[in-house]
Amino acid sequence: MKGRFISLEGGEGSGKSTCLSYIQSWLEERKIPFLTTREPGGTPLAEDIRQVVLNDREEPVNDLAELLLVFASRAQHINEKIQPALNSGICVVSDRFIDSSFVYQGVARGGDLSKIETLSEWVVGSCLPDKTILLDVPVEVGLKRVQDRQQSDRLDKESVEFHEKVRQGFLLRAAQDSARFAVIDSSQSIDAVLKDLDIALQAAFHLGEH
Ligand code: TMP
Repeated sequence: MKGRFISLEGGEGSGKSTCLSYIQSWLEERKIPFLTTREPGGTPLAEDIRQVVLNDREEPVNDLAELLLVFASRAQHINEKIQPALNSGICVVSDRFIDSSFVYQGVARGGDLSKIETLSEWVVGSCLPDKTILLDVPVEVGLKRVQDRQQSDRLDKESVEFHEKVRQGFLLRAAQDSARFAVIDSSQSIDAVLKDLDIALQAAFHLGEH
């Protein structure tokens, strides 16, 4: 049987790392074979592209170049890692996937969504997540959480307006595909977030169904 594909999405400071650790323990407890990965990145080549995309640089990064780079890393990631794992029955949990491209390069940067759709059909095809967990947090709360972080990348440093577009973009995508998305209010206490996450995972793995 094919493995299940779960993606985790959200803006800066939405608590993806905490949730990812919880998902790992959740899958381990249930003895579900899995791998965790991330985008941009996930393979040596794709991680090299991640550095190219996210490193600070003096030269302005062209929006189309940024879009094509994230899709180049995704092509490598899907073909070399995600699809083979799913085919052999391993569950894949990815910290970000295709929705980040629609939201960051599309909604927030103002890129042409129909071109991103075309790229998605070409690069991702049917390798879409079975369940996408969106951690939603007001921008000011998320940015406050990350302000003490040592490392921030080129996109973290974008304006509050940019991050607001990211938040709204994710919420819109979730509303358009409510069967795939589980939206979790991550401004709640950690306990409450993890409780919601547990419910979303049970639904994703059809547990509790008869
Ligand atoms: P993060 O995984 O630490 O949140 O950092 C990844 C950054 O890359 C984040 O700012 C969102 C950005 N990104 C895109 O702009 N487009 C994409 O398609 C993906 C996967 C990530």
